[in-house]
Amino acid sequence: MCGIVGVVGNPNATDILLQGLEKLEYRGYDSAGIYVSNGAESGRLVKANGRIADLEAKVSGQLAGFAGIGHTRWATHGKPSELNAHPHQSESGRLVMVHNGVIENYAEIRATYLENHHFQGQTDTEIAVHLVGHFVEAESLSVLEAFKKALNIIEGSYAFALMDTENPEVLYVAKNKSPLLIGLGDGYNLVGSDAMAMIRETSDFKEIHDKELVIVEKDQVTIMDYAGNTVERDSYTAELDLSDIGKGTYPYYMLKEIDEQPTVMRKLISTYADADGQMQVDPAIVQAVQEADRLYIIAAGTSYNAGFASKKMLEELTERPVELGIASEWGYEMPLLSQKPLFIFLTQSGETADSRQVLVKANEMGIPSLTVTNVPGSTLSREATYTLLLHAGPEIAVASTKAYTAQIAALAFLAKAVGEANGNAKAEAFDLVHELSLVAQSIEASLSEKDLVDSKVRKLLGTTRNAFYIGRGQDYYVAMEASLKLKEISYIQCEGFAAGELKHGTISLIEDGVPVIALLSANEKVAAHTRGNIAEVQARGAHVLTIVEEGVAHEDDDIVVNQVHPYLSSIAMVIPTQLIAYFATLHRGLDVDKPRNLAKSVTVE
Ligand code: M6R
Repeated sequence: MCGIVGVVGNPNATDILLQGLEKLEYRGYDSAGIYVSNGAESGRLVKANGRIADLEAKVSGQLAGFAGIGHTRWATHGKPSELNAHPHQSESGRLVMVHNGVIENYAEIRATYLENHHFQGQTDTEIAVHLVGHFVEAESLSVLEAFKKALNIIEGSYAFALMDTENPEVLYVAKNKSPLLIGLGDGYNLVGSDAMAMIRETSDFKEIHDKELVIVEKDQVTIMDYAGNTVERDSYTAELDLSDIGKGTYPYYMLKEIDEQPTVMRKLISTYADADGQMQVDPAIVQAVQEADRLYIIAAGTSYNAGFASKKMLEELTERPVELGIASEWGYEMPLLSQKPLFIFLTQSGETADSRQVLVKANEMGIPSLTVTNVPGSTLSREATYTLLLHAGPEIAVASTKAYTAQIAALAFLAKAVGEANGNAKAEAFDLVHELSLVAQSIEASLSEKDLVDSKVRKLLGTTRNAFYIGRGQDYYVAMEASLKLKEISYIQCEGFAAGELKHGTISLIEDGVPVIALLSANEKVAAHTRGNIAEVQARGAHVLTIVEEGVAHEDDDIVVNQVHPYLSSIAMVIPTQLIAYFATLHRGLDVDKPRNLAKSVTVE
């Protein structure tokens, strides 16, 4: 989704902005722009529809300055175009602004304050910068006072970075609901919607809370509320490693991240267990689960699917019921909650706006919360009571792979630690360190079969427009994730279905040649029933591909997965489905890492 980067006080401002925007590319965008200045009224604005490379070509080394702001846009109001790309300017051109988020009352603002203004495009951002400009020009307010006044009028989600072309020594920034951070450089300062955009320059950051305005100068950062009261805040150091961000020799990040999964499993073992196999999970988190009477997992997309895949394990080991919530639904309406709920936010990025709106409500209601995330220092991590990190390394491809498997594995450590603390026999018998090592080996074995998967996919999904994943129990949850992965990057319409539910309606869609991928993990009874469903769809002409754990495999099965502990079977079973999505997309000549219309970090509700 949209990204912001800004810098003040560094003569390499153009490079810092362009490199920062490149680091934000993974979030998804359709156009980009920068404004760079070398002194009062010397600034230049360059925008391009398309990729950062197109913007760089337009800049072509001819833009020098010590301050500037840059933006990658993911269209919300107005189609992707150069005119709608940020930065936007006020009516006179004096103010320049970039914005992430959605301004809800933009039409009202336009009608009330900006009747005679001329707009270049259709964005809500242009309304915002015109509003600030209106207060500077029509009411002779200082830029700071005008910005403050505008912020008290604007409703919705936003992260703003604003520059005054007459005084480029200052960046004015503010946020509400959308992420924004200050980066502290040596003799200069930065602003960014994601630490990743600034990580080449600094690892020291200052967070900004909702409805705070910050004046960023090269040697000073002043945080205040909208009434103008100054707020003191310490900086923190983010544990991000720039070396993990490269693609290396891989053609796509997704393939690299799929291949990294055995390493991630081992990293989790070394993080959450000691040399003797004893759990090393923060005792405060274990206690929070013990004190809860019900666990509520709130998440979106792949993280939601990982929540389902972990439900049974969590319930059996912690002896607490687990309820799943789609974050975008719970933001509007919470179900009836138990007496002592614990909210668990599963989120790779830690920035998903849908999840965050539920966390804000939970905090208002005094409900304790745990964020399970891959990004230390992310908004959901900072604002939750506790954080459990995934240690999967940066996930850049839009299609989430290693975060899904890391989420299940991290929750396994939590479930076992709680179970052991409660004297739960199943938890004590579950040798997680050993079992997760076997999972890492199973993943490696599946990854060594890429050519097989490639050829099966070519045959099964080469020209199809739709497909089904089916499974029962744990395999149904994997089917949900597998179908999401296939559709989001290959654009094949795909449903993940509970195999037994097909006959209640959906089987009418099965006809000659429809691809059905069946998932059978090593539960004999369940697998036997799924075999029955396979026969039903085959009888109606479906082309079936089977992914089967070895304990229940038949000779003619297509892909056989090394068997692992049932609590962890979703991790082993999902690997071939990730490869299926990857190869189906590759065969169609599509960009595996950057599917259309999607963003890595979904920061609007
Ligand atoms: O960062 P989060 O885990 O909160 O993101 C939630 C979803 O947007 C995300 O999992 C999405 O579904 C994936 N990109 C799909 O591969």
